[in-house]
Amino acid sequence: MEILKRPRRLRYNKILRESVRETRISISSLIYPVFVKEGRNIKEEIASMPGQYRISPDKLPALCDTLLERGVNKIIIFGIPEKKDEAGSGAYSPDGVVQQAVRIIKQSRGEMYCITDLCMCEYTNHGHCGILKCGDVDNDLTLDFLASIALSQAAAGADMIAPSDMMDGRVRAIRMALDSYSYQRIPIMAYSAKYASAFYGPFRSAADSAPVSGDRKTYQMDYHNKKEARKEVLLDIKEGADIVMVKPALSYLDVIQDVSRLSSVPVAAYSVSGEYSMIKAAAAVQFVDEAAIVCETAASIFRAGAAMLISYFTPELALYIKEGRIG
Ligand code: PBG
Repeated sequence: MEILKRPRRLRYNKILRESVRETRISISSLIYPVFVKEGRNIKEEIASMPGQYRISPDKLPALCDTLLERGVNKIIIFGIPEKKDEAGSGAYSPDGVVQQAVRIIKQSRGEMYCITDLCMCEYTNHGHCGILKCGDVDNDLTLDFLASIALSQAAAGADMIAPSDMMDGRVRAIRMALDSYSYQRIPIMAYSAKYASAFYGPFRSAADSAPVSGDRKTYQMDYHNKKEARKEVLLDIKEGADIVMVKPALSYLDVIQDVSRLSSVPVAAYSVSGEYSMIKAAAAVQFVDEAAIVCETAASIFRAGAAMLISYFTPELALYIKEGRIG
């Protein structure tokens, strides 16, 4: 048999393989999540996420230096307050932990781009992402709180606001609040297709934000659904989202692909805590090669269509890109 078409011709040589890659990964597409805990001189490893830490605001400049050295210039900040209450007041206090964190970074390491996660679950004593009424989160009441969190984060110097609460109408409420205080230039990255997922488990122990009773299924999405992701994304774009996000990433590559085809704005993917911890656990017992798995999974998320990736492996990925392992 005569074979004229030989796909292997493009694979024999490493130089050629690299030059015909369909997916390119750049350090500029990566965002690193940071857990900031109220207090001083704190650096504690998160048991459920080996290699990740809760740190106090005073430790942030040093962390920024390490990241900037690797070429990573974007972080998303999560706050762990000292006290929680019914109304999650730590989230919108001018001196809240996220506000302190942003102020310190912008004053000392202005080149670090600071995205603030906007949610109430780390700040409420019941652990839900909004204000409770009769045992469930009251959507419209919560919107006013979200708007004031956004304003306090913007006032502290946040470069971008990322609402992760999944209330209806929050993008519009936040956009209107920001604009009315002349923060027109601050973009909103909406967690648009955020599924109710067991992959958030390690994050919730890291941030002590698991709901005390019930679950998040009345506001986060059902993982059986994909059309619903389109609905959420289109609504958020209409309401003024500048970037939309799909979360988690690995079990939702089909959603990332779908959303990236449909969206007129850039699509971010969040490779969440459970994805990180599963790889860490498997690598710790040598079931998989950590670096190889990290590269392959990150590439799959970009191949699906993501323009940006939020990942706990960002510092490692930056190194692998520099070394030419991927990219
Ligand atoms: C806050 C929030 C969560 C995550 C990001 N923002 C937790 C949740 O919704 O329960 C999860 C991130 C991760 O698992 O890495 N609502």
